[in-house]
Amino acid sequence: MSLKDKDVLGKNLTEVFNIIKEETHTFTENRVMKTLREGVVDLSNHILVTGDGAERDEKMSAEQQTSRKILVVDDDRDFRWTMGNVLQAAGYRVIQAQDGKEAMSLLEKDIPDLVLLDHRMPGQNGLHVARDMKQRIPALPIVIITAYAEVASAVDFLKMGVYDYVAKPVDNNDLIFTIKRALEKQDLVQEVKHLEEERRQSVERLLKAAQDTVHAIALTVEIRDPYTAGHQRGVVQIACAIAKEMSLSEHQINGIRMAGIIHDIGKISVPAEILSKPGRITENEFGIIKAHPQIAYDILKGIDFPWPVAQIVLQHHERMDGSGYPQGILGEEILTESRILAVADIVEAMASHRPYRPALGIDKALEEISQNRGILYDPEAVDACLKLFHEKGYRFN
Ligand SMILES: [Fe+2]
Repeated sequence: MSLKDKDVLGKNLTEVFNIIKEETHTFTENRVMKTLREGVVDLSNHILVTGDGAERDEKMSAEQQTSRKILVVDDDRDFRWTMGNVLQAAGYRVIQAQDGKEAMSLLEKDIPDLVLLDHRMPGQNGLHVARDMKQRIPALPIVIITAYAEVASAVDFLKMGVYDYVAKPVDNNDLIFTIKRALEKQDLVQEVKHLEEERRQSVERLLKAAQDTVHAIALTVEIRDPYTAGHQRGVVQIACAIAKEMSLSEHQINGIRMAGIIHDIGKISVPAEILSKPGRITENEFGIIKAHPQIAYDILKGIDFPWPVAQIVLQHHERMDGSGYPQGILGEEILTESRILAVADIVEAMASHRPYRPALGIDKALEEISQNRGILYDPEAVDACLKLFHEKGYRFN
């Protein structure tokens, strides 16, 4: 506070308190006037002696400290004064500003719970000030004080998100009721936001835990079967790129990622000597390998993923013409996610080294899917994959 002698010399107490109010933007009342009004004697040693003679500590109570703060913006000092009294009597803390400029600079330092804003002010009118405030703090509740004749233009305020308006001359009960309702609505909005955020975080945590578990399972399979180690991760990389190229939703892509990383989990039932056997495998051995999608399905079907992971994995060896396994379903009967995994699976497998043959290379892999586009493999997934490698310079590690 920077009060100079000349500011206050010769002024009566009420005027001095008004000057303090202007300087500090805090509602400050001449305690003598307050005493006369409320019958409460205020001593300078911070003890209040009430009309009935009881003493109480004047320190701000916990209730007062947590009471809501209202910024009153009006060029009319008497009106601010009256509003300050009314709002304080209703249990609110009050700060004040005489125009939009002062109000905006106050907002920079200290955000009130609600703004009571006059419509007609010299310089920036209430409409401009409300717009600036809403731009700065969109959730700030604003109540406009407007003359009867201006009620029509109050609609403009409501359109920009101002909570409500109160017509002049102000009915105090009406004003307090409007403020109470505005603050209750604000509390409700905050509560909903808080709950939404909590829900989002817990879903995120659950998904992370599910992902970590699935990665751990994938690692178990790969440790046992080093020849296909990294195959599942390679498939995920290509499958997600294809899905993105096909403009699948983020949710579907996440499902493909989850299914892809464990799509060969069923190979856990295949003896290691068959998996790592150099040279050709027998028909009998192939029969054992062919059971892996069904085994994977049986392992995964009990887990409640937000995606049909067990079904996607079950169908990853199905082919468009029905020549796949285990169910021999065809075309659109096969899940889109499985059709994408099938393309990614064959491309990754052919491009990489296998126990029974050296890597055939990416060109051979792309030739295979081109030749069997629409026969074995989904045409859209094939087109997306070819576009990635041929036109977009896609490479996988
Ligand atoms: Fe497989």
